[in-house]
Amino acid sequence: MASFDGKVVIVTGCSSGIGLATSNLFLARRACVFGIDISPFKQELDDTQLSNFAFHQVDLTKPKAAEEAVAACIAKYGPRIDVLANVAGIMDSFGSADTVTESEWGRVILINLTVPVQMMQAVLPSMKEHKSGAIVNVGSYASISGAAAGVAYTASKHGLVGATKNVAWRFHEHGIRCNAVLPGGVPTNISSSIVRENWDQAAFETFFKRDDLPQGCIGADDIAHGIAFLASNEAKMISGVLMPIDNAWSTI
Ligand SMILES: NC(=O)c1ccc[n+]([C@@H]2O[C@H](COP(=O)([O-])OP(=O)(O)OC[C@H]3O[C@@H](n4cnc5c(N)ncnc54)[C@H](O)[C@@H]3O)[C@@H](O)[C@H]2O)c1
Repeated sequence: MASFDGKVVIVTGCSSGIGLATSNLFLARRACVFGIDISPFKQELDDTQLSNFAFHQVDLTKPKAAEEAVAACIAKYGPRIDVLANVAGIMDSFGSADTVTESEWGRVILINLTVPVQMMQAVLPSMKEHKSGAIVNVGSYASISGAAAGVAYTASKHGLVGATKNVAWRFHEHGIRCNAVLPGGVPTNISSSIVRENWDQAAFETFFKRDDLPQGCIGADDIAHGIAFLASNEAKMISGVLMPIDNAWSTI
């Protein structure tokens, strides 16, 4: 089991679901975690965890929010950033190109694709300077399938795959790695991010009348373990990969 003793790890979306599980796992492995979220961080931490955790509350879609968050991390823990876990994200309302609204498209692409790229842009100067760093982006089964979500979410998660591969290749000679995990369905609070007035019931039914969805519950912890592996030195020659964590859903 890889230790992250003293490593500085930024986790976006740390207040809930996969981001919370990821923060807890890195804390358990002795990292210094800098958590970022628009929502308050409500989990109680023990004294050891508290001394290794800093929380930055911000809406990452605001101008310069990513840059300022990374500056705050550097002010807290020093100039070296070892890991960025881009976890924050939202779900769409299942509409395809016929019903997606302009605002839904813009909001989903902004949070799920533009913000992770801005976060990568903000950490890269530190990673380049130290010739080391690991970025893990949280994609989705919808990163490789058109049959899991609406057009906005699907496009955002496909786009994040392109961004992951581009950063992996561009910096493969700089000691910087970039990978993605692609979770299947995980019980979290993500459904609360759906804008209900945009809901497309007919589109939703085309996905979930299917009877080939995988059985078995994937937990947020399962995704956190995948993120930690890809961020660890055990994965030091792995960059540009998409790792499904979906109990074989992506084999269909
Ligand atoms: N839950 C699933 O089934 C599933 C499946 C595949 C991929 N994912 C991906 O996993 C990631 C985490 O989602 P989750 O399921 O843990 O959902 P979640 O809603 O439990 O957690 C998402 C977190 O992101 C934060 N966030 C949202 N918008 C933000 C913003 N503008 N600025 C800062 N923080 C913001 C939220 O406040 C929340 O704490 C997302 O990228 C999601 O697309 C989830």
